[in-house]
Amino acid sequence: MATRTLMKPANALFSGAHRLSVAPMMDWTDRHCRYFHRLMTRRAMLYTEMVTAPAVIHGPRERLLGYGDAEHPVALQLGGSDPAELRAAVRAALPYGYDEINLNVGCPSDRVQSGCFGAVLMERPALVAECVAAMIEVADVPVTVKCRIGVDDQNPEEVLPDFLHRVSVAGVRHFVIHARKAWLQGLSPKENREIPPLDYDLVRRMKAEFPHLTICINGGITTLDQARALLEAGLDGVMIGRAAYHEPGSVLIGADALWGDGAGRDAFAVVEEMKPYIAAHLAGGGRLHQITRHMLGLFHGRPGARGWRRVLSEGASREGAGLALLDAALAEVAGQAALAGG
Ligand SMILES: Cc1cc2nc3c(=O)[nH]c(=O)nc-3n(C[C@H](O)[C@H](O)[C@H](O)COP(=O)(O)O)c2cc1C
Repeated sequence: MATRTLMKPANALFSGAHRLSVAPMMDWTDRHCRYFHRLMTRRAMLYTEMVTAPAVIHGPRERLLGYGDAEHPVALQLGGSDPAELRAAVRAALPYGYDEINLNVGCPSDRVQSGCFGAVLMERPALVAECVAAMIEVADVPVTVKCRIGVDDQNPEEVLPDFLHRVSVAGVRHFVIHARKAWLQGLSPKENREIPPLDYDLVRRMKAEFPHLTICINGGITTLDQARALLEAGLDGVMIGRAAYHEPGSVLIGADALWGDGAGRDAFAVVEEMKPYIAAHLAGGGRLHQITRHMLGLFHGRPGARGWRRVLSEGASREGAGLALLDAALAEVAGQAALAGG
């Protein structure tokens, strides 16, 4: 019989980290991005990109799962639909000390569908229940699920409560619901994040129907004010994806106020704090662009934002690009700020 590993003691600073989280985003929320985001919010839960269970089991594990201590709290998102593989992937991830393990039941991309995982699993709640039960058997942190409200011609009013019931009976206490359907045929992954209409009300009703579950909402949330309003409406957490990535200066700086923490950091100070991290990356043979590509939106909406973005996107992938380029980009913002001020 399987023995349950004891849960790790929770770090007090991480308690309630799901109040705001940055969504898992392939090719975007890598470890450099998370380090950068962490400088703006000490509290929010940061999700990895999705890693498939077979990749964790057979692939370059350190490259796929390695990250820095400074990034906590971090949730690992797994993709898969084979209980034994998912159990093995969770076991392989244990030594890395993630704070949460999340199963992807929301991603509609073709590659994901062909392996029968992601959003297509909304049609197979019994299989999802088996998968999470296998993961929970070996996990020492909460196993959570990110899902949609339904797929294709499913009726969300019926399938979503049934899904939440069946998967929670298998032991999941925490769901992140992307409040729109996914169309498995005919829409690209990008269109699937924009075209199917959002139904926040249904997600709110799920919290009322399952008050014992942690229910976080995702999809189309672009400001902290919107996030605050959804929390006040009774939801347990808000997950933000694209807006956090494209406008971190307005979405993540100041986010810790959602936990009652004081004033947010200054964007210039965040850049200064990135410098030692970037220097270490360059010294290890890495490229500037690998980090600064995540920082292009930092000054979004402020004078000089365009110059900052231009200098970095034109220069950061050039051979030998280093901290001097970052300073040149910063000068674009500082110069404009001085003009605007006087
Ligand atoms: C570039 C990109 C990659 C994404 N990759 C993933 C992924 O790996 N796993 C996942 O569950 N969702 C993924 N998503 C979906 C987001 O997690 C999120 O559900 C979606 O963007 C809606 O939230 P938003 O409106 O706040 O962006 C991705 C989204 C984007 C833009």
